[in-house]
Amino acid sequence: MQLLDGKLLSAQIKLEIAAQVAQIRETGGKIPHLVAILVGTKGASETYVASKMKSCEEVGMASTLIRFEPDVSEDELLAKVREVNNNPDMDGLIVQLPLPDHINPDRIMETIDPAKGVDGFHPINIGRMAKGLPAYVSATPQGVLEMIKRYDIKTAGKHCVVVGRSQIVGLPMSILMQRNTYPGNCTVTLTHSRTQHLADICRSADILIAALGRPEFITADMVKDGAVVIDVGLERVPDASKKSGFALKGDVKFDEVAPKASFITPVPGGVGLMTICSLMQNTLKAARGEVY
Ligand code: GUN
Repeated sequence: MQLLDGKLLSAQIKLEIAAQVAQIRETGGKIPHLVAILVGTKGASETYVASKMKSCEEVGMASTLIRFEPDVSEDELLAKVREVNNNPDMDGLIVQLPLPDHINPDRIMETIDPAKGVDGFHPINIGRMAKGLPAYVSATPQGVLEMIKRYDIKTAGKHCVVVGRSQIVGLPMSILMQRNTYPGNCTVTLTHSRTQHLADICRSADILIAALGRPEFITADMVKDGAVVIDVGLERVPDASKKSGFALKGDVKFDEVAPKASFITPVPGGVGLMTICSLMQNTLKAARGEVY
């Protein structure tokens, strides 16, 4: 069993990005600038956005965090999105999800200029990704691809089972893994909460990607010997022994699944760290005008 070490990879990737940003700086080019909009101060979102902003700083990129109270109107938020769209100094824009119930996330995502939509959530980016055209790819699936590539995991002809059909992870992951490229060329099964015989299907996976958001759902009996297991889950589970009062768990019961896997991601220290790297990579591409 080999660990897919997100900590190690993300540190390497950040160094690579930092070197590229330094080169832009030396040659007087446009310093990449990421803007994040955060509505309210819900625990996990606050942490994620803080970590995105900190990563920008680490690699030498510019970043701006725009905050709104949870009762901000949809119109006010849309106006801010349009303002960022029109600001040539701002290269990438993310609006952290989830948003309060009175705001339609699709309207927000569709208003972000696709050329600045470094989260890859705009329908144009999703459509271009599906067609294999240059596009911003959703950060977590892109991070998973990067891991597969850097560990040289073979994918052609393999059965890839994706558990979970979220717009952010499961759905794009399934599209990416079936594309005629590397990583890709898998036979993909996309499973979800209504899937019958889920354990049987998971057991037939050469590559199992768990992205359903249920702590330790994937148990050893659901995993084939030698499978590649990628855990996209990250949930807070109450744990009185921790100072914070919670422990972070993935969707895979790591201790019992790891001995059966050929490769497996730990949680934390796996896919999560790769996600932020993808966002930095996309922001760099945005500043260079490499996608649009
Ligand atoms: N909420 C959970 N994941 C993400 C993400 O990748 N981007 C944004 N904007 N919100 C999220």
